[in-house]
Amino acid sequence: MASPDPTLRTGKVATGPSGSLSLSALLSIKRQVASLARELGRWAKERSDAHQRGDFDLGTHAKTAPGDVVTEIDVEVQRRLVGALGAAYPTFGMLGEEDLGHAKGTDFSGPTWVIDPIDGTQNFVRDYPGFCVSIGLVDNGESVLGVIYDASTDATFWAVKGGGAWRNDARLHVAADKALDHAVLTTGLTTGSEANPLQQPVFAELTARSAGMRQSGSSCRDLCFAASGKVDLFWQFGIRAWDVAAGIVLVTEAGGIVALSSGPNALQSGALSSNWVGTEKLTIVAGTKRLASHVVSIIQQHGQR
Ligand code: IPD
Ligand code: CA
Repeated sequence: MASPDPTLRTGKVATGPSGSLSLSALLSIKRQVASLARELGRWAKERSDAHQRGDFDLGTHAKTAPGDVVTEIDVEVQRRLVGALGAAYPTFGMLGEEDLGHAKGTDFSGPTWVIDPIDGTQNFVRDYPGFCVSIGLVDNGESVLGVIYDASTDATFWAVKGGGAWRNDARLHVAADKALDHAVLTTGLTTGSEANPLQQPVFAELTARSAGMRQSGSSCRDLCFAASGKVDLFWQFGIRAWDVAAGIVLVTEAGGIVALSSGPNALQSGALSSNWVGTEKLTIVAGTKRLASHVVSIIQQHGQR
């Protein structure tokens, strides 16, 4: 595994009047984090290409179920992210999918990195387009910085609270709000989502009533699609914080809304209490404002049946 570990410059982090991270601090952190995500994402893509040529073994193995896989590259990217971010921001908390996922009971009220080193690992292993490196910063329950490197397009999506949403240096906006029958939705279908009894009825209703349902295999990429207006809305049951922490601020800064909950009956938007970060099975609806409210009400109605 060539390529030296990335390093970040350490600096004093400027805070706003209430102790929250200021816009200029977030923009400065983002510059460093974006180059880190890009560097590690390109390195992972190069390893995936070598694997496809038969020159490299990704070291793929199952985690919680045969279909829930991890590779040595997932673990190595996380190791490098944790090393670089931990050294540059030693006071920030850290939650990552690989071996740092034991979140229960942890206090996430302070600034916390929430990272998925490779989102879309099945895509990564198969060279199916669309794996991402995702780095979110959550402060007091609010996603305030998100960087998502999309390996299939070599693009870096990013947003900071109050600073807009961007794809490289192009500003992003969600689609114009439209009625459900004109809207294209995307979702993730996993054993985790199937465990929710509302999965099948909600999927059936949204598929029947929308203009189409997509699935990319990477929730981070789905959130980039929602923030760019390529789809109108992303929804999923049974998701974890690292799948969405970076994408939440991307969608809200692009003019959309995000509703998040640990249960189908409590979907809420706006500032969330910090405990969603440690929740094992989240429900997310992220997209244009009226459409997202409509989809939330459909999910709530199914929850009341
Ligand atoms: C998965 C992907 C998938 C989503 C799953 C996630 P992973 O992440 O984001 O699109 O539907 O819920 O677990 O495991 O490939 O990092
Ligand atoms: Ca992952």
